[in-house]
Amino acid sequence: MQLSDEKYNSFINKVKKSFGLDLSKVEKRAVLKNLKQGSNDLKFQTAEECVNDFLNTDWTSQKANQFVSAFTINETYFFRHKENFENLEKEILPQLVQKGNLNIWSAAASSGEEAYSLAILLNEKYPYVKSKIYATDIDPEVIAKAKKGEYTTWSFREDAIKYRAKYFAQVAENSYKLNCDIMAKVDFSLLNLNDKLYRNPNLKELDIIFCRNVLIYFSLEDARAIIKRLHKALKLGGYLFVSAPEGGFIPKGYFETIYTKNGFYYKKINKKAIEPKKVIEEVRLNKTIPVLKKKKEIVQKIDLYDKAMKLFDKREYDNSLGIISKKVQKNKKDYILMTKLYANLGLLEKGLEFCEKIFHLDKLNIVGHSLYGNICYELGRLDDAKKSFETVVFLDYKNILANFKLGNIANEQNKKQQAIHHFKNTKNLLSKEPSDKEIKDSEGMTVAVLNKIINGFIN
Ligand SMILES: C[S@@+](CC[C@H](N)C(=O)[O-])C[C@H]1O[C@@H](n2cnc3c(N)ncnc32)[C@H](O)[C@@H]1O
Repeated sequence: MQLSDEKYNSFINKVKKSFGLDLSKVEKRAVLKNLKQGSNDLKFQTAEECVNDFLNTDWTSQKANQFVSAFTINETYFFRHKENFENLEKEILPQLVQKGNLNIWSAAASSGEEAYSLAILLNEKYPYVKSKIYATDIDPEVIAKAKKGEYTTWSFREDAIKYRAKYFAQVAENSYKLNCDIMAKVDFSLLNLNDKLYRNPNLKELDIIFCRNVLIYFSLEDARAIIKRLHKALKLGGYLFVSAPEGGFIPKGYFETIYTKNGFYYKKINKKAIEPKKVIEEVRLNKTIPVLKKKKEIVQKIDLYDKAMKLFDKREYDNSLGIISKKVQKNKKDYILMTKLYANLGLLEKGLEFCEKIFHLDKLNIVGHSLYGNICYELGRLDDAKKSFETVVFLDYKNILANFKLGNIANEQNKKQQAIHHFKNTKNLLSKEPSDKEIKDSEGMTVAVLNKIINGFIN
């Protein structure tokens, strides 16, 4: 098929604008193959004719949806990435079911295997708990397939086969229909995750959202905007599951990452946990403490640091900040804690301010440079983040997280060779550690989990 570079680029741009799909990262050959499929589906004589029509006219949403389904990969199967379902079963459901009804959303559900897996799991473990599962996708073909509830053996890869005998009836050779009680638990509808507003009235106050293996199709900016909308749709304390490589899209300050032996998931936190101004006032007031009280004061300050540290470890960041900021001392330890607290509360610029104070005392402080790098990364200042992590690696070439972050940054800057170089360095360092060891300063992430994340990137 012949398409000039100019037309190809206009096509890619309009697809991104209309559907949010970023095809610029997909191999051109693959895009052209899907384009051929899409134009056949819409009965155009040639793909070029289809592209011209797409570029020059406004398509109805039905026509656009049919077209876009040629470009989205619908790969899915029952209990895909079973570690997510294990985390749900062992860590989340036992506490959530005590609170009553459950509302769950499988966003980008494809042909329904993910949503039905959730329904089967709930039926297995908590048959008497009232639950509703909403499942959405942009592609009308997959939604129609999901509503039919018929699957081939291919959908039962991994160990989901054990549920086939219990919940499915064979209706033809290699065709299995799901029982209607499970089907009734899931409500399917069309939804474009890239819409600025999700109009489906059920998608609010949700307990759990699964949004896996779809964010990878979006630009970083669009993926983050989607995650913010998912954050809004969840209850405070609700849970979000994305696939391992998609974890990099989660903006700071919206979710707490919960690491487990089996990977990780996200818990919604309140974005506006603390007012920055009040804290600064308290720090200033501190300067007026009379000199005579100094000795007692120092003991008190140590106690307060320990107290604040304990609260930090329990992830009670706002309480911890309330304590440490009253008695903050001009030392690296206090400044590091202040930086971490501000960063965890999403007050990134304030975090940078305290980082500068660390450098004032010690220009080559490794923890300070790591924190500075992380905060710049969250602010999208990738070049500054890169410089900080390079300093960390210069000071400590075995620093696993700094090598990994350099890989992440290169990847986001589309410097694939550099990214692979850094990821390989990280893997090399990881290979020297036991797989269940927790990585320093990673909030509990194990060597095995990071290895898995990197494999996701490399593949
Ligand atoms: C690989 S499947 C993921 C299925 C399932 N979540 C899983 O992990 O097994 C990706 C799905 O995302 C859907 N998708 C792509 N772009 C979308 C968008 N803008 N809004 C909603 N769904 C979208 C595709 O139609 C496809 O069914």
